[in-house]
Amino acid sequence: MSSTILVTGGTGLLGAQVVAILRRSGHTVRVLSRHDREPADGVRYVAVDLMTGEGLDAALSGVRTVLHLAGGPKGDDVSTRNLVEAAQRAGSVEHLLLISVVGADAVPVGYFARKAAAEKIVAASGIPYTILRAAQFHELTLKTVRAMAKAPVLPAPGGIRWQPVASGDVAVRLAELTLGAPAGRVPDLVGPRVYTLEELQRGYLAAVGKRRMRLPIRVPGKIGKAYRSGANLSLDAPAGSHTWEEFLTTQIAGS
Ligand SMILES: NC(=O)c1ccc[n+]([C@@H]2O[C@H](COP(=O)([O-])OP(=O)(O)OC[C@H]3O[C@@H](n4cnc5c(N)ncnc54)[C@H](OP(=O)(O)O)[C@@H]3O)[C@@H](O)[C@H]2O)c1
Repeated sequence: MSSTILVTGGTGLLGAQVVAILRRSGHTVRVLSRHDREPADGVRYVAVDLMTGEGLDAALSGVRTVLHLAGGPKGDDVSTRNLVEAAQRAGSVEHLLLISVVGADAVPVGYFARKAAAEKIVAASGIPYTILRAAQFHELTLKTVRAMAKAPVLPAPGGIRWQPVASGDVAVRLAELTLGAPAGRVPDLVGPRVYTLEELQRGYLAAVGKRRMRLPIRVPGKIGKAYRSGANLSLDAPAGSHTWEEFLTTQIAGS
């Protein structure tokens, strides 16, 4: 029988999809979340806030594989350190996987820098590991362009490109990596096309039948320079198969 796989962030957008794939393939999954939940669909939940790490030792008991997907705008370095230290104490973890973001070490934004720090913590842990960097998910892309289109005049930052990827494609890849051997940093996973932010905005506006006057802006400083140079892109990386257009059609039709 296979051992328990601990999935942090298994209640999130990405995590819930990975958990479902692992369950379908017959694996025992324990999900770590900040909130207590009743077991459901064969999944046991453990309540731990990774920012404090309290309760991690029990959560890791008997675990050989840890898939670390919990994350957010703040604290990914702290939460990863707490998790790694607990995994080192446990001594049973043979494979630690981390989801990171394309451009982690190249985009001078706090979230990216904290992901880069988390990668370093995992790589230096002494525990065999796999790190996958993914591009922005379609859901985040939609949230971003939708928020921008709320204003009567659409802010249009020039020279910025994205490679939005289906969270489902990332989930499939992560499940495959989780069941494979530790592979270190693996090739990034991006969406099938590069879009300018303007194309993404136009696609959204067309899908919802809105018009907006555009206000061209230039993102200043180091952040603008990094984005304009494509530091957030991975142009030669393998791509998922589901497109932004497909996602937009289903989301807008379903809303
Ligand atoms: N969204 C993107 O475009 C994108 C792109 C590349 C990489 N990523 C990375 O992919 C991962 C998943 O993203 P997502 O969009 O699926 O996130 P999400 O839907 O916001 O889910 C975040 C998950 O993290 C858990 N979590 C957050 N803070 C925690 C804490 N202090 N202790 C324990 N658990 C905590 C949440 O669990 P509870 O709320 O149940 O506690 C939830 O399951 C993140 O690491 C993110 O940085 C995302």
